[in-house]
Amino acid sequence: MNLTKFVDKLPIPPVIKPLRKDSNHTYYEATMTEFKQSLHRDLPETTVWGFEGVYPGPTFEVESGEKVFVKWINNLPEKHLLPIDHTIHGAHTDAPDVRTVIHLHGASVEWESDGYPEAWFTNGFQQTGPYFSKEIYRYDNYMPACTLWYHDHTLGITRLNVYAGLAGFYLIRNQRERELYLPSGRFDIPLIIQDKSFNPDGSLLYPRQQEKPVPGLETSIVPEFFGDTILVNGKVWPYLNVEPRKYRFRLLNASNSRFYRLRLDSGQLFYQIATDSGLTESPVGLHEVILAPAERSEVIVDFTNLEGKRIIMTNDAPAPYPNGEPVNPDTFGQVMEFRVVEPLSSIDTSTIPAFMVPFPKRRVQEASKVRFLGLTRKKDQYGREVMLLDDKDWDAPISENPKLGQTEVWYLINLTNEVHPIHLHLVDFQVIDRRNFDVEKYKQKGVLEYTGPANPPIPQERGRKDTVIAYAHQVTRIIMKFGPYTGLYVWHCHILEHEDYVMMRPLRVIP
Ligand code: C2O
Ligand code: CU
Repeated sequence: MNLTKFVDKLPIPPVIKPLRKDSNHTYYEATMTEFKQSLHRDLPETTVWGFEGVYPGPTFEVESGEKVFVKWINNLPEKHLLPIDHTIHGAHTDAPDVRTVIHLHGASVEWESDGYPEAWFTNGFQQTGPYFSKEIYRYDNYMPACTLWYHDHTLGITRLNVYAGLAGFYLIRNQRERELYLPSGRFDIPLIIQDKSFNPDGSLLYPRQQEKPVPGLETSIVPEFFGDTILVNGKVWPYLNVEPRKYRFRLLNASNSRFYRLRLDSGQLFYQIATDSGLTESPVGLHEVILAPAERSEVIVDFTNLEGKRIIMTNDAPAPYPNGEPVNPDTFGQVMEFRVVEPLSSIDTSTIPAFMVPFPKRRVQEASKVRFLGLTRKKDQYGREVMLLDDKDWDAPISENPKLGQTEVWYLINLTNEVHPIHLHLVDFQVIDRRNFDVEKYKQKGVLEYTGPANPPIPQERGRKDTVIAYAHQVTRIIMKFGPYTGLYVWHCHILEHEDYVMMRPLRVIP
């Protein structure tokens, strides 16, 4: 679809207000409904799903340590907006079509409030999944200042529910962050980047079939989905008028499958101040920021002395990343435009601090357990590719069962030709290194033989992470400490088409 770029203003999602707040707890309700919203000036209104009547959903703003309770309410219609494949796990015909469960991505929470994929619920909680245990979720917010996001996590239809619009920001702030005098208030802006395709009538387009239709199936899951337009905060190719000063942008890739490699066409640097799970030790100047689905990067961009300039944030990540079709510079090669046209409303006293927060490095010697986990694939009965973790289906007995307080090193051994962004619930981790290995030898004999040197994480990854890119034919090592909760969580690939089929496994933290 050929839509004119930079004709709509960037929307800023509203901040959700709690229904009750006292010194001990804050209580919110967030209701999911179906409605129409304009996603581009020249496009008829699009039917989407959202929270509190907006897509993307409203932003939660909470303080570290604040006890927050949220009742996620499903008020959606009975019929799904998008084509369901009933052959995949969790989406068989005995399950109601419209089911939801909300996960707070990157948060460390008790398992009953984590949005387990089989803890789904329907409109009015009339039907619930086998692991459903409570209507009101509890978030203790033990994490330091960070950019989290909430999204649907229902087994077998996450890709559809998120594509329909069920996602939003959840920001944690704290005193340490305020003491750093980062750009704040109107100059602190979250940017949720997604790709979508549309039918001429404005409705969302999501394929019903793979490129070569699967014989015997009316509707089949696709191996990945790439839209032909880019949206930021729910508008196609928006623009933002800015003042000649510093801004803090919280970049989130909330796309189903698309990776981004973002740059500013002015050649300016992004000063990255935070990774997925919070502030880094020091800022790092980056010419490009790579974001896999679910990854976040917080950056400061300085528009000082650029009065009158128009700066485009571009993307040159091939799809699939990194060896797919090169990006078309006229379409998804562009993300949004910054126009330095607003007068300076006050002196810019914000800073790019030299030091932010300590980042104690975890050492491999601290780990009491090492796991070797293959990222693999097989063919299903219809001849479709199925991506797997550790060669296991979702329903196989739980094998990742770390002890509370235990530090572990995971070797993510990618035997596939695809890149997979791997995400763990409950914990944040550090990337140790990546290394090429002899794939055939590993497949045949189970022997891990490296064929190249260990590469440290790239500068933008040197911080607290919850999602890591596992490149094809490489071993990616991560280290983390399990806690502070025990219970049933998950780990998975965050390409939503992979996660749904069936690149997700339970993760149980035991006492
Ligand atoms: Cu962003 Cu398991 O999710
Ligand atoms: Cu994947």
